[in-house]
Amino acid sequence: MKIMVTGGTNGMGKGVAKVLAATDDHSHEIIILCRSRELGEKVIQEFKETTLNEKVSLIICDLTKLSDVHNAINEIQSKHTFLDGIFINAGLGYAAKRVETEDGMDPHFQVNYLSHFMLTLNLLSLLERSQSGGRVIFNVTEGGEIYWDDMQMKIDWGYEAGIQQAMVAKRMFLVKLHDLYKNKHNTKISFIGFQIPKTVWSNQLNIIPAPMRMMATLMKLFGRFITIEECGEMMAPLFTETQKESLKKSGKFITLKNDEFIEIKEDMVILNQELQEKLWEISLKLCADEKTNQISKSLFNLEQFDE
Ligand SMILES: NC(=O)c1ccc[n+]([C@@H]2O[C@H](COP(=O)([O-])OP(=O)(O)OC[C@H]3O[C@@H](n4cnc5c(N)ncnc54)[C@H](OP(=O)(O)O)[C@@H]3O)[C@@H](O)[C@H]2O)c1
Repeated sequence: MKIMVTGGTNGMGKGVAKVLAATDDHSHEIIILCRSRELGEKVIQEFKETTLNEKVSLIICDLTKLSDVHNAINEIQSKHTFLDGIFINAGLGYAAKRVETEDGMDPHFQVNYLSHFMLTLNLLSLLERSQSGGRVIFNVTEGGEIYWDDMQMKIDWGYEAGIQQAMVAKRMFLVKLHDLYKNKHNTKISFIGFQIPKTVWSNQLNIIPAPMRMMATLMKLFGRFITIEECGEMMAPLFTETQKESLKKSGKFITLKNDEFIEIKEDMVILNQELQEKLWEISLKLCADEKTNQISKSLFNLEQFDE
């Protein structure tokens, strides 16, 4: 399998990339999309030594910049003829204040959701060429809401609200993608939302303020956290399972309980098609990218044709 992981230099993304690199006799090829070449190369070195997998490469992309996403898409398409899976994971967590991106957006909205919206739409054609059944796994959590009148959180900002808004947007996006792909006759890709059942001891713990870190350290003593490798072990099957198994989960929001993937009942707001399409339109406008618009049009034309 050839799998791309966004944010594979730390936390959950690194855990998933590392376990996949070590799985199935090092047969999987891993592409890490990351913002720091230096950190990315350190991770490749670490994987080579610990997993013995030599097939790990980097795509450098700062997800706070749509211009970087555009360049990353071109680079991936020029280097790869297919992809079997993508882990939509990179995310900005704790932030002390709102620092607007150069595209004029809330950074949580742009990094955690919008850049992934553009990336995913542009890489669908590579996933369609997968021999093993393309799949996109979204790292998502329950709760949250879209602030329709203040999506960029200019009036009322909070980092937690920003993270949650992006989670809701990702869940709406994956459900819409699933519905659009249901109408495609020749190709199937699965779009799955996964919520990790336990908190992962990630790089976030190095970023949060000292009092929060002390509280987390205390919780760690009570076994409230799992390691990034344990997270990787839980999630790896989502990337390596058969297309048939993967398609059964498509469009669903799932988690892991007693070693089994189970469905989480999705909120009515997320399943509301009008709201999904409203968000999609807003996202397309914010991307302001001709190619992304064309891809979107072709997906929607197909839907109308089938109706
Ligand atoms: N930890 C948990 O228990 C948990 C639970 C549920 C969901 N989540 C979600 O999982 C995702 C990953 O979180 P984590 O806890 O694993 O945090 P983490 O250890 O901080 O990892 C975040 C990853 O995203 C990358 N990233 C951040 N900003 C980026 C940017 N502008 N461009 C490119 N990459 C960027 C980071 O790159 P660097 O290495 O360069 O910093 C890092 O690789 C987040 O969306 C988070 O909300 C986490």
